[in-house]
Amino acid sequence: MSTIGTDSAQAAQHLQAGAVVAIPTETVYGLAANAFDEAAVLRIFSVKQRPSFDPLIVHIGRAADIHRVARELPPQAQALMDAFWPGPLTLLLPKHPDVPDIVTSGLDTVGVRMPSHPLTLALLQALPFPLAAPSANPFGYVSPTTAQHVADQLGDQVPYILDGGPCAVGVESTIIGWQDGRWQLFRPGGISAEAIAAITGPLTVVPTAAKPHAPGMLDSHYAPRKPLYRGDVEALLKRFAGRSVGVISFQREYLAHRCEVLSESGDLAEAARHLFAVLRELDGSDCAVIVAEEFPEEGLGRAINDRLRRAAGGR
Ligand code: TXA
Ligand code: MG
Repeated sequence: MSTIGTDSAQAAQHLQAGAVVAIPTETVYGLAANAFDEAAVLRIFSVKQRPSFDPLIVHIGRAADIHRVARELPPQAQALMDAFWPGPLTLLLPKHPDVPDIVTSGLDTVGVRMPSHPLTLALLQALPFPLAAPSANPFGYVSPTTAQHVADQLGDQVPYILDGGPCAVGVESTIIGWQDGRWQLFRPGGISAEAIAAITGPLTVVPTAAKPHAPGMLDSHYAPRKPLYRGDVEALLKRFAGRSVGVISFQREYLAHRCEVLSESGDLAEAARHLFAVLRELDGSDCAVIVAEEFPEEGLGRAINDRLRRAAGGR
């Protein structure tokens, strides 16, 4: 079993030795290894049972380290880093030859971000290498937002889980890439598209079909084991009358077997913070079916809708 603790020196020792360690970030917990060590990165794929065609995000502790992992910076990249780092924004950049191909699944771009969680930021600054890290869940399942979530699923496969408490943002980073002469949105996440657009101008959304190399963006991902349906909750409750239904709602209570309200005050950031814990909770409950409201398609609501859409897997 893994040790859960707050000792970043111990986490650093394991990482230096080539092991995989779970780390807290402001978005979700990551499964980290030395990004420059091919054997260590391979261990991430095997622990997660992640297909090798799904590239990893590289985490750096100082903005200046960008030049160790990226060949060059597209227009406005520096302004985006200045505005949002450390924080939940991942930039897809031309890959530096020092980054092993396994990290990027052979792509010529590398996803890079500087996380803001203080424990992990300090860890990155103490290490002589950046950390490759996907979310610390088995491939295809809901991302973990507490150390216990990681221990529940991967506890026997990582030597150390660095416990940084519950994640403050709760959904993964926003991913953008410079393509065809402009910045495009690959995955909505913790930084709103509106805030990015204030710097880059309007963002185009990259259609799923155009990113076959990124299963995190495909249907049926971030998925609980129980069937999940989105839409008009009253109508869905009628449809599933007689079954134990768990409801995920933004603000209002529904009369159902279980009802989880993500933010009574209607705060999308608070709702995002609670989303994955509630999905896990309902998945582990005695509910037969999960139904979820559609959230306002603005700010963090975009990321919430995206994850729920994928959790529903086309239902
Ligand atoms: O907030 C986050 O981004 C978290 C924390 C741990 O930093 N990480 C995370 O990693 O969500 P992961 O691996 O679960 O999701 C990363 C997504 C995947 O869907 C992957 O396909 C995509 O990013 N990705 C990574 N590098 C890419 C690249 N070069 N081009 C296109 N997509 C890429
Ligand atoms: Mg993931």
